[in-house]
Amino acid sequence: MKLVKTRQELADIVTQWHRAGETIGVVPTMGSLHAGHLALVKALDGKATRRIVTIFVNPIQFNNPDDFHLYPRGLEADAALLEETGGVDILYAPDETQIYAPGFSTRVVVSGLDAMLCGGDRPGHFDGVATIVTKLFMQTRADIAAFGEKDFQQLCIVRRLVQDLDLPVSILPVPTVREADQLALSSRNRRLTPVQRARAAHLPASLHTCIAELKAGKNSETCLKTCWQDLEEAGFTVHYLELRSSKNLQATQPSDPSARLFVAASLGDVRLIDNMPLC
Ligand code: PAJ
Repeated sequence: MKLVKTRQELADIVTQWHRAGETIGVVPTMGSLHAGHLALVKALDGKATRRIVTIFVNPIQFNNPDDFHLYPRGLEADAALLEETGGVDILYAPDETQIYAPGFSTRVVVSGLDAMLCGGDRPGHFDGVATIVTKLFMQTRADIAAFGEKDFQQLCIVRRLVQDLDLPVSILPVPTVREADQLALSSRNRRLTPVQRARAAHLPASLHTCIAELKAGKNSETCLKTCWQDLEEAGFTVHYLELRSSKNLQATQPSDPSARLFVAASLGDVRLIDNMPLC
């Protein structure tokens, strides 16, 4: 695996790869890598002959400068994990000068899909995501890009922008990787105290219970309200708990085959998100 830090060096390599008829797969990340990220790399098996992992903590997708500065960074450990796992040709870890030149003033805005769920209380977050993802697609010239269903709204927004801007990249969705107690892997889990970490398992457990009740035909408003209360009783501050369509993120009913349950809830100052399909 080669560590590349400049867009020029990356451009030289990917140009050669394209000339040689290689298929390029990319996994965009912000580092602090875990088994969830590695599953995205693995999902490119047989779909790309060359694989790039990008690590860039993108300042323009953070609403709060403290969050950006506190975001865990550890390039050496990330590089060692990727090296050990194998199958990655390039780790692209640019600094800010390679991404946002002085005077940078363009944004990619995906209207409609960014107003609800995580977009509601994080204005501009998804514009920052859409902008960096578009730039990483252009810089890596990827043919295929893997995204986790863990960040389902992000996945929907990326799919929309690729379709709307005719970007020549196909999007590969990858199911959420979970711990043994079903908590979705996330770099934020490391910030939980041992007590909070034990409590965090309530999140997927409550979603499972709620889904079972919805599928049993119980009133959906009552099911959501009970689930919200259960989470608050377990010590969470719930930000949203909603049933929406996987297709367009619009509010929907349990009878909709594309219905999906979405949650964001905090333990202390650690915000966790999760989502599960009903079917
Ligand atoms: P990051 O949070 O590092 O996540 C990178 C990718 O890993 C995303 O596609 C995310 O959905 C996926 N991922 C994270 N946890 C996962 C899990 N438990 N199971 C499966 N996939 C998981 O998402 C971002 O970075 C950024 O917004 C980015 C797209 C890189 C733009 O800056």
